[in-house]
Amino acid sequence: MTEGRSEREALRARLEWLRLLGVEDLPVRPPHRIAAAQAGSSQVRSPAETESAAMGKDRRPVVQAGLFGGFDEVESAVPPGAGRRARGPERGASPLAAVRVPEAPDAATALRFIREDIGDCTRCGLCRNRTNVVFGVGNPIARLMFVGEGPGADEDLKGEPFVGRAGQLLTKIIESMGMEREDVYIANVVKCRPPENRTPLPDEIATCSPFLFQQILAIRPRVVVCLGTPATQTVLGTRDTITRLRGTFHEINGIRVMPTFHPAYLLRNPAAKRDVWDDMKKVMAELKKAE
Ligand code: URA
Repeated sequence: MTEGRSEREALRARLEWLRLLGVEDLPVRPPHRIAAAQAGSSQVRSPAETESAAMGKDRRPVVQAGLFGGFDEVESAVPPGAGRRARGPERGASPLAAVRVPEAPDAATALRFIREDIGDCTRCGLCRNRTNVVFGVGNPIARLMFVGEGPGADEDLKGEPFVGRAGQLLTKIIESMGMEREDVYIANVVKCRPPENRTPLPDEIATCSPFLFQQILAIRPRVVVCLGTPATQTVLGTRDTITRLRGTFHEINGIRVMPTFHPAYLLRNPAAKRDVWDDMKKVMAELKKAE
């Protein structure tokens, strides 16, 4: 296969992803564009644009940095005002540092032990309104793990994370990365649905997150993708905002962590899908490196 052809195929795959996500009509934002926009230049052309022009694909010209950079500092899976916002733990040591995973011969057994430990949990107030504890789902030896905020109504009823509208979008994202849901592991910071889908409170996160940390350490994926602010702040043990943290790798206990926007946020702000795709490309490259 020639170089030009594989580039064209990569471009086609990207356009297909954008089409799947419903943003094919939006401009693409390659990194050099951001630099150019920040530098006040609108004249930079990329090889992909040259190729795109050759393919007859219409792309809108230069993206202003501010057009895509002005995200709400407190991006969350729930609409603004739906509940009190989680304040992440203080900056400091990795929250996983003191976590002990149950001794087990393999990851699947360790996950079973963690689930048994959670039991019919009444450790925090979220137990009062839940239908099911939503533990997590997927491949116990996954190389890629997604962490969300907490179950919504559909997840509460089914006992499985990310099965509602946001979950369907997450499934599309996973499939666009060339994987199936069954290949990855999906879990949440809190295992029970917060009332009215509000953001989990700090004490609820503090009570439940040790189980998430155990899941991460039992699975030991190469990459954890944190979906949204509460997941990112909890896993990284920071109060920094998703706007500051997304798009670059962080590390906890030798595991790479990529914060990105929550799919529920993407449903309300489709333009941010491009950022998530940029982040997922970095994740795919990281997984490829580790093959
Ligand atoms: N949002 C989440 O954060 N987790 C789910 O499981 C579903 C929606």
